[in-house]
Amino acid sequence: MKFDTPATTNPIDQLKVVGQPVDRIDGPLKTTGTAPYAYDRHDVVANQAYGYVLGSAIPKGRIISMDLAAAEAAPGVIAIVTAGNAGKLAKGSRNTALLLGGPEIQHYHQAVALIVAGTFEQARAAAHLVRVNTARAQGAYDLAAQKDSAPVAKSTSGGGSAESAVGNFAGAFASAPVQLDATYSTANESHSMMEPHATVAAWDGDQLTVWTSTQMVGSTVDDLARTLGIAKEKVRVVSPYIGGGFGAKLFLRSDALLAALGARAAGRPVKVSLTRALIPNNTVHRSATIQRLRIGATRDGNITAIGHENWSGDQPGGKPEAAAVPVRSLYAGPHRMTANRLAVLDLPEANAMRAPGEAPGMATLEIAMDEMAEKLGMDPIEFRIKNDTQVVPDHPAKPVSQDPQSRVPQEKPNPHPPFSKRQLVECYRVGATRFGWNKRNPRPGQVREGRWLVGIGVASALRNNLLTKSAARVRLDRRGIVTVETDMTDIGTGSYTIIAQTAAEMMGVALDKVVVRLGDSSFPVSCGSGGQWGGNNSTAGVYAACTRLREAVAQKAGFNPNEAVFAGGQVRFGSRSVSLAEAAGDRGLVAEDFIEYGDLDKRFQQATFGAHFVEVGVDAATGETRVRRMLAVCAAGRILNPKTARSQVIGAMTMGVGAALMEHLAVDKRLGYFVNHDLASYEVPVHADIPHQDVIFLDETDPISSPMKAKGIAELGICGVAAAVANAIYNATGVRVRDYPITLDKLLAGLPVAM
Ligand code: MOS
Repeated sequence: MKFDTPATTNPIDQLKVVGQPVDRIDGPLKTTGTAPYAYDRHDVVANQAYGYVLGSAIPKGRIISMDLAAAEAAPGVIAIVTAGNAGKLAKGSRNTALLLGGPEIQHYHQAVALIVAGTFEQARAAAHLVRVNTARAQGAYDLAAQKDSAPVAKSTSGGGSAESAVGNFAGAFASAPVQLDATYSTANESHSMMEPHATVAAWDGDQLTVWTSTQMVGSTVDDLARTLGIAKEKVRVVSPYIGGGFGAKLFLRSDALLAALGARAAGRPVKVSLTRALIPNNTVHRSATIQRLRIGATRDGNITAIGHENWSGDQPGGKPEAAAVPVRSLYAGPHRMTANRLAVLDLPEANAMRAPGEAPGMATLEIAMDEMAEKLGMDPIEFRIKNDTQVVPDHPAKPVSQDPQSRVPQEKPNPHPPFSKRQLVECYRVGATRFGWNKRNPRPGQVREGRWLVGIGVASALRNNLLTKSAARVRLDRRGIVTVETDMTDIGTGSYTIIAQTAAEMMGVALDKVVVRLGDSSFPVSCGSGGQWGGNNSTAGVYAACTRLREAVAQKAGFNPNEAVFAGGQVRFGSRSVSLAEAAGDRGLVAEDFIEYGDLDKRFQQATFGAHFVEVGVDAATGETRVRRMLAVCAAGRILNPKTARSQVIGAMTMGVGAALMEHLAVDKRLGYFVNHDLASYEVPVHADIPHQDVIFLDETDPISSPMKAKGIAELGICGVAAAVANAIYNATGVRVRDYPITLDKLLAGLPVAM
């Protein structure tokens, strides 16, 4: 099904099942500990051996020699895989550094060997007997030091242009009556999902199966086949349950590749989990950024010039974090510039983490807006509302060129497309009332409750809505059960549940008559989970397949498919009705289709919006910040399930608090690695850190986005949160911290002296 005109009324609009806050259908499996995660797959294949990944002890240089003899002779060792004996491996299309290093070493903890043994302990013990003789090379590990030589990139990690320009930014900024020019920084961050990367791999002749933990089954098949140099048809990837990913599991990682290589070398199935201490340096992280914001405005608060420059780091061949991209869509202003620069660093590979671009970009932009409002003497919400825009004010400096081969005259894209729906102002109005914004004292450092300095802050949230093809298959059996199959994943988000709701609504059956099977490459290829596109696109794919199944059912019953009504497990036409079970017959009915999109995402900017409100208390004596209350008001299209959506948003808000106050991979700039590579020293918020969170969804449907009229929610919830916390801390203390995370050492000097 091609979706290229805005949706009209369709069966989803009944909202009998879709839009209801139903419990997760996979909840009982999760709460009883019986959901089969990758490392738990003892059941799928017999005789599993254990692989232990050995990471490089140097960040850059060469392996001169490896002495494997002692390890090979150690108890239980079956095989040792290295780049020297693994055979020819191609680089995957999505990873920048090689997943198995050697002789060249590209980063610390890059895998250099997999030791396979009968038990995990035997493999680990043997790994310590491998002698790796290396020659260390000079590397670059300090973003600030490399910043000035960093060129503007060709494109960002999001694929768009890295720079943009409208009007005359320099001139307009120079002549603006009120100016802000401030530089901010955000930290290197680790996804820190609960389930580590893990895989069981088995070969049956030349056929490989991996039971793994990946957000994107289709691209994992592609990249495993490409790296191993085998046909895609020879690879099956199974990933039905995933204990979080946040972007860390978007692409093939070393556990799956090395498990496959280990199983080939050992001649038996091999399971590999990355240890927690390996994950931050072996896999991917969100790059630190340095960002310069310049805003010029008239005295009455109209932005005339806005410039956002961003520096981030990555391996050679990598792409910059798109932190200076969201500013292109957020506020009005005639003169604008953005630039995303990439410093080449020899730290581990940077890549997407929840709301790549927006999360760090809005963490700084939204402090700058708070600072500018203060300079103007305006309320920070009123300043944002005054500069709201219903069209995209910015556009890339070099528009993506049209196909020169094309003979079809192409319509020139609108450089300032309208938003399909934009309710940012409404988010602020609703939130201000609910949160009690009018109680905020605009003068910082004035509200004291005992030892606590109390403050309130606000920030905008923006995250784009991405459209991507997604397929599904649906079966109706003779018991009237509807079974959905798609390689879509559920990374803890609720995919199982919203897909079941979609199929139930479309086929007119109760939720318990729907079975959902996900995460297997033998099922039709879906959009996968990432970029908050999973909810809208995967359910739209199920909508397309169910539309086909409805046609098949109606045809079987002899009804006009456009007029047949599906309800109560029956299909009705006029006064006649047939049960779905009967229509399915003994052989059942099956239909498959996909959703694909036209150019509605070019004619309209599709995005989700929100406003975050935060109240903090800062201990006047110690500088310790405690978040006291949080509220997110979100406008994100139709909410398919308010319970799972709320859960996504509060999780994202919590992660935003982590970015604001705690999360920081510390770089050893001499030795070139992330020092605090475990969850003892890399801190993330826990329940006790977040006493009260509230989420409001504005009533919204977006017929431009898909037949579901939904968008995404899982990344919107983090965008802007860090800035709302920072702004609340400023309001509480009068100390403006521009360097995340806002740890107490950065506040102490500005606090009143305790008596
Ligand atoms: Mo998301 S960072 O695309 O999993």
